[in-house]
Amino acid sequence: MRVLITGGAGFIGSALAHAHVARGDSVVVVDSLITGRRDAVPAGAHFCQVDVAGPALEEVFASFGPFDLVSHHAALKDVRRALIDPRGDAEANIVGTLNVLRCAAQDGTGRYIFASSAAIYGDAAMLPTPESAPIAPISPYGISKAAAEAYCAYFARSRGLHAVALRYGSVYGPAAAEETEAGVITIFARRMLARKRPVIYGDGEQTRDLVFVDDVVRANLLAADSAPRPWAVYNVATGVETSINETYALLAVLTEYDAPPEYQPPKPGEVRRNALDPTHISEQLGWTPTAALRDGLAQVVAAYLAEAAPVAAVAGSR
Ligand SMILES: NC(=O)c1ccc[n+]([C@@H]2O[C@H](COP(=O)([O-])OP(=O)(O)OC[C@H]3O[C@@H](n4cnc5c(N)ncnc54)[C@H](O)[C@@H]3O)[C@@H](O)[C@H]2O)c1
Repeated sequence: MRVLITGGAGFIGSALAHAHVARGDSVVVVDSLITGRRDAVPAGAHFCQVDVAGPALEEVFASFGPFDLVSHHAALKDVRRALIDPRGDAEANIVGTLNVLRCAAQDGTGRYIFASSAAIYGDAAMLPTPESAPIAPISPYGISKAAAEAYCAYFARSRGLHAVALRYGSVYGPAAAEETEAGVITIFARRMLARKRPVIYGDGEQTRDLVFVDDVVRANLLAADSAPRPWAVYNVATGVETSINETYALLAVLTEYDAPPEYQPPKPGEVRRNALDPTHISEQLGWTPTAALRDGLAQVVAAYLAEAAPVAAVAGSR
């Protein structure tokens, strides 16, 4: 397969790039590096530092296309930053998506995957939330994802581009940035290991559907190979609500940290409860999440301990 991954220097996109390279696909990564890291891109992929919302994207398609798969993961995904700068968020997430769609349709791309989000449902009445639930985002980030997804559906139905939207829960893993939807895991684990007290905003009873990054990569590969055409939408999540307090308790055990959190007033723009029903992707593509939360969190903690180990060894030898 010839594959273009936008946002391939970021958390999920780089994991996906590694998976495509590992299965022998020819991979081009496009990323502006606004939050991504060049060294996260696998050595076997061709890297282009390009803004997906700008004119240089056409040159990437002209030079490396046509693509069998365009996987659009580039976005500004910081919910709190989007509250302050909704225009910047809209330019990257809506105009950027529209530009990638336009180039892919011109290129004759075989399949288009869009990284959508649980944020498009807002505070959903039904939990776990099915794909048929109303689209009712409560934040600029959720609005930009909902608008971008609507453009994907339009290009699938009217412009012959076979597209799939994957609505992720809160994706976690060792490389997740603190600003991501599951960034609280990164923050808690790092602070607990440093023996610094983590902060919980609100009462800690707000819930998230925590899905491990390896499971998200597997959903992408299945969707690329077998999603029905021309248009499909899937939740990619566990269907399980986990509160911030529960996440804190699990990480406290894994890091052997025994102090309670510091509670501060809640931040605006964040949904109270969240869990997405994964039945549809399970029935159509045979995907189910395989990582148990405790095991996934243990992998995160182990990765941070391994990062700290050489430093500790050097310090100990002095
Ligand atoms: N992490 C989650 O929990 C989560 C949940 C739901 C949806 N998503 C979506 O999945 C995708 C990947 O998220 P992530 O957590 O890996 O985020 P990330 O910030 O790690 O990766 C996004 C990448 O996109 C790049 N980028 C941003 N704007 C760009 C632009 N205009 N042009 C080119 N590159 C640009 C960034 O440099 C970064 O490398 C995003 O679309 C995000 O909205 C993530």
